[in-house]
Amino acid sequence: MIFFIDSANLDEIRTANDLGIIGGVTTNPTLISKELISGRNAILDHYQKICNIVPGDVSAEVISTKFKDIITEGHQLSEVNKKIVVKVPIIEDGLKAIDYFSKNNIKTNCTLVFSASQALLAAKSGATYVSPFMGRIDDWDKKTASSIQILADIKKIFKNYQYKTKILAASIRNQEHIIDCAKIGADVVTASFKLLSSLIKHPLTESGLKKFIQDYKRVN
Ligand code: G3P
Repeated sequence: MIFFIDSANLDEIRTANDLGIIGGVTTNPTLISKELISGRNAILDHYQKICNIVPGDVSAEVISTKFKDIITEGHQLSEVNKKIVVKVPIIEDGLKAIDYFSKNNIKTNCTLVFSASQALLAAKSGATYVSPFMGRIDDWDKKTASSIQILADIKKIFKNYQYKTKILAASIRNQEHIIDCAKIGADVVTASFKLLSSLIKHPLTESGLKKFIQDYKRVN
């Protein structure tokens, strides 16, 4: 399973990349807005800076919701760098745009996916990635929808029909989500810097290490 970092912050991306555990980056308009970058050129420049840090794919989301505008914006984003994956919401015009991009060899990430049926449509349109929003599914209605069940359904459907679309689990809230994604076989999990950094930690590792160093120093 590949880890992406869900961030537009250059320091976080650099630090996570230096750990050697991430293969790419996902961003969204909210994450971009947190960096207080304004103006189209500055935003495109920021995506270029992200691409310079990481080895793999960098998702950059369109703001447009009409087919023609999504196409124009997607071309603009994909021209920034070969690593750019155009992130498109699963709406009718978005689905058409994904089909267009896939036929024009432009990578896409179909976003705001909350059901297996949406994921199936994304795969049929030729999306490179599909992003089920795990945390938001669970936040929305824990009783009737379970993010893990939806993820398992997507995995089974993609396997049944050998879709090449990769499952990129997003909106990850905790370590349990990450382990469940790994058990089901998600291709990619994107998580915040805070969550990724927490994966390495365990209280017994900290106390064990402290004791090892103390014991060694007692006689050395
Ligand atoms: O980038 C999409 C996704 O990861 C958003 O997560 O935490 O805003 O639900 P969140």
